[in-house]
Amino acid sequence: MAEQKTALIIGASRGLGLGLVQQFSQLGWQVTATVRTPSRADELKAVNGVKIATLDIDSNESLAALGQQIKNQVFDLIFVNAGVLGPEHQSAAAATYQELAQLFMTNVTAPIRLAEALVGQLRPNSGVLAFMSSILGSVKNPEGNNLALYKASKAALNSLTNSFICSLPEPRPTVLSLHPGWVRTAMGGPNAEIDVATSCSGLAAQVQRFAGKGGHHFVDYQGQTIPW
Ligand SMILES: NC(=O)c1ccc[n+]([C@@H]2O[C@H](COP(=O)([O-])OP(=O)(O)OC[C@H]3O[C@@H](n4cnc5c(N)ncnc54)[C@H](OP(=O)(O)O)[C@@H]3O)[C@@H](O)[C@H]2O)c1
Repeated sequence: MAEQKTALIIGASRGLGLGLVQQFSQLGWQVTATVRTPSRADELKAVNGVKIATLDIDSNESLAALGQQIKNQVFDLIFVNAGVLGPEHQSAAAATYQELAQLFMTNVTAPIRLAEALVGQLRPNSGVLAFMSSILGSVKNPEGNNLALYKASKAALNSLTNSFICSLPEPRPTVLSLHPGWVRTAMGGPNAEIDVATSCSGLAAQVQRFAGKGGHHFVDYQGQTIPW
C-alpha cells in the first residue's frame, strides 16, 4: 500500500485554508493545519484526523514554536495560504507605515520566512511548496485597481518567491504560485464567482499535477498559466 501523503496548510481557520484541509483530507492525506486562534477553529476541528497547530505567521517566536512541534516531519506539500487584504482605502497616498508593514509582513515576508525555515522538510524529489498568490499579482493585469496595495503585495510575494527559490541549491522543490479563482470567502465576498470547494479541488489537482516536475509555476485552480 502507498504511504499516506502529508500536507502542512498554513492559515486554515476558515475560507480557502479550511477548504484545502477538507479537500486533502478527503483525498486521504494526513493534514497538519495551522491557525492563529485554536479556540475559534471549530469547523477545522470537525475535519477527521486533522492535526492542528498554532501559528501567527507574522511572529518569529510563533514560527520557531511551530518548527519545534513539527520537527523531523516530512511533507509532500507545504501550502502557505494565510493572507490579508490590507487597508480598505487601498491608496498608496493614504497608506500609513503601520498599514503597509502589516500587509507586506503577512502577505510577502512572512510566507517566505516560513518557507525558508521549513523547505528542508519537503519530501525529496516530489515535495511541493505552494503559495496562495492571486491573478492580481500579475504585474500587467489591468483589473482590480481598487485593490492596488493588495495587488502590489501579491506581485511582491511572487518576486520574493522567485528570489528565494533561485537561492536554493539544486535539486530544488517544485514551487507553485497559485491563483484560487475569485472565491466566495470573507475576503472574496458573496458575489465572487466560485465556491470554496470548486477552488480547492482545482488547487489540489494542480498540486498533484506538478509534483515531481520541478520549476516555479504561476497557475490558476484550473491549470491555466498566468503571465508574471
Ligand atoms: N477569496 C478570493 O477570491 C481570493 C482570490 C485570490 C487570492 N486569495 C488569497 O487566498 C488566501 C486565503 O484567502 P481567503 O479568501 O480564504 O480569505 P479569508 O477567508 O479572509 O481567510 C484568511 C485566512 O488567513 C489567515 N491569516 C490572516 N493573517 C494571518 C496571520 N498573521 N497568521 C496566520 N494566519 C493568518 C486567517 O486567519 P484568522 O481566522 O486567524 O484571521 C484566515 O484563515 C489569501 O492569501 C488571499 O490573498 C483569495
